[in-house]
Amino acid sequence: TILVLDFGSQYSHLITRRLREFNVYAEMLPCTQKISELGWTPKGVILSGGPYSVYAEDAPHVDHAVFDLNVPILGICYGMQELAWINGKQVGRGEKREYGPATLNVLTKDDPLFQGVDNSRVWMSHGDKLHGLPTNFKVIATSDNSPYCGVVHETKPIYGIQFHPEVTHSTLGKVLLKNFAVNLCKTKQNWTMENFIDSEIQRIRDLVGPTAEVIGAVSGGVDSTVASKLMTEAIGDRFHAILVDNGVLRLDEAKNVKKTLVDGLGINLKVVDASEEFLSKLKGVTDPEQKRKIIGHTFIHVFEREAALIKPKDGQEIKFLLQGTLYPDVIESISFKGPSQTIKTHHNVGGLLDDMKLQLIEPLRELFKDEVRHLGELLGISHELVWRHPFPGPGIAIRVLGEVTKEQVAIARHADSIYIEEIRKHGLYDKISQAFACLLPVKTVGVQGDNRVYDQVIALRAIETTDFMTCDWFPFDHAFLKKVSSRIVNEVDGVARVVYDITSKPPATVEWE
Ligand code: XMP
Repeated sequence: TILVLDFGSQYSHLITRRLREFNVYAEMLPCTQKISELGWTPKGVILSGGPYSVYAEDAPHVDHAVFDLNVPILGICYGMQELAWINGKQVGRGEKREYGPATLNVLTKDDPLFQGVDNSRVWMSHGDKLHGLPTNFKVIATSDNSPYCGVVHETKPIYGIQFHPEVTHSTLGKVLLKNFAVNLCKTKQNWTMENFIDSEIQRIRDLVGPTAEVIGAVSGGVDSTVASKLMTEAIGDRFHAILVDNGVLRLDEAKNVKKTLVDGLGINLKVVDASEEFLSKLKGVTDPEQKRKIIGHTFIHVFEREAALIKPKDGQEIKFLLQGTLYPDVIESISFKGPSQTIKTHHNVGGLLDDMKLQLIEPLRELFKDEVRHLGELLGISHELVWRHPFPGPGIAIRVLGEVTKEQVAIARHADSIYIEEIRKHGLYDKISQAFACLLPVKTVGVQGDNRVYDQVIALRAIETTDFMTCDWFPFDHAFLKKVSSRIVNEVDGVARVVYDITSKPPATVEWE
């Protein structure tokens, strides 16, 4: 394992990401991590970039015990400046901020870190720079603007580089990281999802023991399905999956999830139809945040009630709760965001744990989304489910603008199912990050046959994004939009008009509410 110490750069998590791409396991922890409290010995350490100045009074610094590990160390940007600060303090402001591409000029032929990366494009993003060589270091690479673009300790494998090898703009950055992790640190390249399945199943069995039972909520999405399938492989029917039908799921969702999970994957699933309960609580409510709160609270209430009905065979209570937490959520909660560390609680863990006194099992907490998808495919989960668009917890309730009633939900659902069906038919589903229909509670005039109609509006949304923080709308061709619009107006009662949302995020959000 490689230890990545995070000094708060926006790129830090990409270091872990890249290392895993060549099957090296890496773990990221805040830069303030005490080495004595680590509990394991890394084979190498990477100090990330960060937004601070090493010479500032409140700048974060690495635990010096990292040097007693006697393993290779790579400082990237701030990480390099930190190494220089510790070894002679030759760091200061550059004349100007350097941001963008530069060409790497490697001065030595035989250094293991720089094998195969000479003359490649590297990505710079820094304001501070080295003003001289750190004590006992030598220069091994330069760029036009950085005379100390790469430095190494004279006798130890301690490196500093000014650029960011973890971003894809550094064309051979991955080669450099591989040189570090594999050639210098001698890590094994055995981080594969095949290996992960075996070790995780074993870990779950050890944790749960021979008789205890586990409960978990499923949503029909990829994360909870993959987590549930792993649990089933590990402990069979001692895992109890629950799907709460909240009345605002997609068309036929509860039925379809049951078919896939029970018939297809052998998961011990109970579907609880609580739609009337949810809809009655949503009566008269139009505020989006209020809708979210009601659905969240009602969910916890229903889930706890169902959990109490399960009587484990060992005569004890249910002891564990499965959560599909992914690594980005973990990173979010541990990453170093300032002189004091911010810990964020996972929004989907919240209330359940406080009340139920259950121990958490999070089999996906080490995985990125694409690793979860790969794992899902290895576990025999269909391509369609593995690549499903995300669906918000409050579901169609935030896609029916205004009051949520059974009738309004039915209209939104029907229109949405036609839209998604056409997207799939046209081979567009995997090109789009998320697509859905919204029902606008606005009456508009139309003419259908010889009759005047006075009905509502469906707004279609389709977006492309990598992280859902920003997005752009998907450029459908006109023939596609024409087809969907005509099908929705003709087939869905209560709809007089269809519009397509051409707003990016920002300034809009993905959902309408
Ligand atoms: P926004 O609308 O915030 O959406 O741009 C970004 C992503 O988050 C999803 N989303 C939610 N997911 N509960 C969820 O579980 C929510 O309350 C919620 N609101 C938005 C949205 O579908 C998109 O993928």
